[in-house]
Amino acid sequence: MKCFLYAHFICLWLLFSLEKSYGFEGRKIAENHHSHTIELSSLLPSTSCKSPTKALSSNDTKASLKVVHKHGPCSKLNQDKTIAAPTPTEILLQDQSRVKSIHSRLSNPKTSGENDVKVIDATTIPAKDGSVVGSGSYIVTVGLGTPQKELSLIFDTGSDITWTQCQPCATICYKQMEQIFDPSQSTSYTNISCSSSICSSLTSATGITPGCASSTCVYGIQYGDSSFSVGFFGAEKLTLTPTEAFNNIYFGCGQNNQGLFGGSAGILGLGRHKLSVVSQTAQKYNKIFSYCLPSSSSSTGFLTFGGSASKNSKFTPLSTISASSSFYGLDFTGISVGGTKLAISASVFSTAGAIIDSGTTITWLPPAAYSELRASFRNLMSNYPLTSALGTLDTCYDFSSYSTISVPKIGFFFSSGIEVDIDVSGVFFASSISQVCLAFAGNSDAADLLIFGNVQQKTLEVFYDGSAGKVGFAPGGCS
Ligand SMILES: *[C@@H]1O[C@H](CO)[C@@H](O)[C@H](O)[C@H]1NC(C)=O
Ligand SMILES: *[C@@H]1O[C@H](CO)[C@@H](O)[C@H](O)[C@H]1NC(C)=O
Repeated sequence: MKCFLYAHFICLWLLFSLEKSYGFEGRKIAENHHSHTIELSSLLPSTSCKSPTKALSSNDTKASLKVVHKHGPCSKLNQDKTIAAPTPTEILLQDQSRVKSIHSRLSNPKTSGENDVKVIDATTIPAKDGSVVGSGSYIVTVGLGTPQKELSLIFDTGSDITWTQCQPCATICYKQMEQIFDPSQSTSYTNISCSSSICSSLTSATGITPGCASSTCVYGIQYGDSSFSVGFFGAEKLTLTPTEAFNNIYFGCGQNNQGLFGGSAGILGLGRHKLSVVSQTAQKYNKIFSYCLPSSSSSTGFLTFGGSASKNSKFTPLSTISASSSFYGLDFTGISVGGTKLAISASVFSTAGAIIDSGTTITWLPPAAYSELRASFRNLMSNYPLTSALGTLDTCYDFSSYSTISVPKIGFFFSSGIEVDIDVSGVFFASSISQVCLAFAGNSDAADLLIFGNVQQKTLEVFYDGSAGKVGFAPGGCS
């Protein structure tokens, strides 16, 4: 069984996924205001992709793309067995690098010129096997160029530049599943010149001053510690769905790309900067997009541009992170565990500030908030045996001798007064049934930003309205 060969953690995500449409499988056997009860026995990991319960629709006001987990049975990247999925430990290390780089970018924003594209070439940064872009795990497939080529991109609300590997891969391209994009075979590709204001705006989008090669703008972007892309900045036709296409979307045509981006073709940047795809399609979609991350790698979610939020969405205002124009800031005010709001001073959250990020895996809390969460969670889980830590995760359980477990509910409070309940699939991150860990970590510094990660976003419809300046959450967006 493939599952046990390479991806125990995916199996565990399955164990803890629960959804109404598959309820007959007996995963969840009870739920009350304070806890979820999950059945552990008779749960075999699924190696096939379940089709979504409702078909995606696209029309004049919106465009919906299917979202899949990079390494699961629903992903075509999974077909190439030579592209190994990272282990749970590797995922957590990558997450830590991404979070470190977000924190350091915000605490000492680079002044222009301090970093330039020359800094990130192959001679200064060793390519590390297995390094991926932070831990961005979710991909969508879009069309690029004329005639259009299908490319599977990791979507990332924590960065702005969209890029893909491009022929002739002047320095190096990593291994990707689909054919590498060749701008010389597209009638709609154009280079951006070094003197254009678009080229200069790369500095604020990436923190790296663009370069110039024979008057073509050269971008560079670096994620976490070791993965990066450098290449020509160009414009192309981007096709989201068969009926929704945009001409002259600025993107990076990568000639030097390192880090195994999991076999994907690059990144779809959904940040708030004017170079993101969200901003570049604002005339049509008014900076509105939403997504749902599936509870497990054997189900699918969606990424929709435009459209409207579910009727049962709860909204909270977007805030601005002063040191960066990219991130979606939120004002956290509290956390509940098992139906009780934890005694954490609101200043703990306001001192740190917070963002929501599709590319960070677990949720990173201010140290004082994490220690309260951990104490309360451990107290309510005291029937179960604790086991060794998994990387940054220090609250791990051995559930190997249980058939059902009862898990306290966790909720997040925001400044508008709303409480958002985390789905049970968003509580744990596991390496195996005998090491199932609370998927939260504490930041090392009380002044570091809180990051609402993608594990905790699972099955929620997360609706971003960049024009109205708000984010909405609705339960049951996907399964
Ligand atoms: C487009 O889809 C939305 C939501 O599915 C629907 O409310 C709207 O009426 C549709 N518009 C058209 C023109 O079909
Ligand atoms: C874009 O610029 C690069 C570098 O100057 C050049 O090699 C390439 O041929 C240009 N492509 C087009 C379509 O002009």
